[in-house]
Amino acid sequence: MKIVTIVGARPQFIKASAFSRVVAQTPGVTEVLVHTGQHFDDNMSEVFFREMDIPAPAYHLDIHSLSHGAMTGRMLEAIEKVLAEEKPDFTLVYGDTNSTLAGALAARKLHIKVAHVEAGLRSFNMAMPEEVNRILTDRISDYLFCPTKVAIQNLEQEGFRHFPCLVAECGDIMYDAALYYKSKSDRESKILADLSLSPGHYHLATIHRQENTDDKPRLQSIVEALNQLNRSVQVIVPLHPRTRKLLDLYGLIPEFRMVPPVGYLDMIALTSQASLILTDSGGLQKEAYFFGRYCVTLRDQTEWTELVDGGYNILAGADTDRIIEAAGLLAGKNHGFKAGLYGDGHAAEFILATLQAGT
Ligand code: UD1
Ligand code: UDP
Repeated sequence: MKIVTIVGARPQFIKASAFSRVVAQTPGVTEVLVHTGQHFDDNMSEVFFREMDIPAPAYHLDIHSLSHGAMTGRMLEAIEKVLAEEKPDFTLVYGDTNSTLAGALAARKLHIKVAHVEAGLRSFNMAMPEEVNRILTDRISDYLFCPTKVAIQNLEQEGFRHFPCLVAECGDIMYDAALYYKSKSDRESKILADLSLSPGHYHLATIHRQENTDDKPRLQSIVEALNQLNRSVQVIVPLHPRTRKLLDLYGLIPEFRMVPPVGYLDMIALTSQASLILTDSGGLQKEAYFFGRYCVTLRDQTEWTELVDGGYNILAGADTDRIIEAAGLLAGKNHGFKAGLYGDGHAAEFILATLQAGT
């Protein structure tokens, strides 16, 4: 059995690490990794391959820093060539980026079966590029691997039971990665010492979503909230390159501490010892929960609604006062977490076994 896996953006390297490790332990399965190049800085890409023992990509397409249409279009053309050459049994895509949609569409048009990991998530906000990517990818996938019950329900409501595809709940593959790399992070990460941070005495924040960064008033309002919080508890932000560019463009001057993006082992250390997480990241909202930390989400919707329902996460949008109020309610709390929202940490094994059964 041959699988071509498409990756390109930071969270996809983390998801791929879990699946690629299981593939490597399974005789009779070959995985060909294609890196679209969407993320390309060393600390947004290479660091994950190095630290997490992800196999080197067989193809690197070097496509990045373009408008949505140009990026997706060029990826589509380049991935089509790879798939025509490799003729895999399956093409596997993760999440909701432009790399995801390009990979799924290229495969579908060549009649190669598409497996979508992280299927069924919805924000119900079609202004988000991710929402468009995930809806289209789901619709052309043959195997829809859903991380949550809510994702399954979303597909039910969209009538997927009438489509010729397999929908399965498998848990969240990011949970597999978080469990596996936590002990490596405990052994190897020195980030708290390097940044002179004391466990439990800093808030960790990330911001990168287009809906926040490309809207000056929203970004300004988030920066103001983090500035105000930083006056009582240090706020540390590993800064995504998109956000760095836009802070410069708008002339915003944060008071909080910014550092370059960090590798996953350091990110686990920072997350698991923070007094609070504030983020617009999808992945980090869940990691906060995996590591027993409360989270303020800097968005108006979340795909991970079970976190809000469980009281682990407050949706505060980009409003300064709401962010500060939510932080006041959650900061310093690290108790009351019940495991189980995201499966058993063996999503990758389930996915591979399901694909094997389908060949
Ligand atoms: C992409 C995904 C988003 C995901 C995020 C993960 C889409 C539509 N968006 O957003 O869903 O949450 O990745 O981080 O696919 N840049 C660099 N160096 C890098 C990477 C990016 O400088 O290594 C710059 C690009 O040149 C560009 C900007 O950051 O100017 C945005 O990059 P892009 O890949 O278009 O989108 P992300 O915001 O990273
Ligand atoms: N992450 C990381 N280093 C950082 C910031 C984030 O390793 O400096 C990890 C984070 O722990 C999570 C993933 O990147 O596993 C989330 O990616 P991102 O926030 O870029 O995208 P999203 O999940 O929102 O699509």
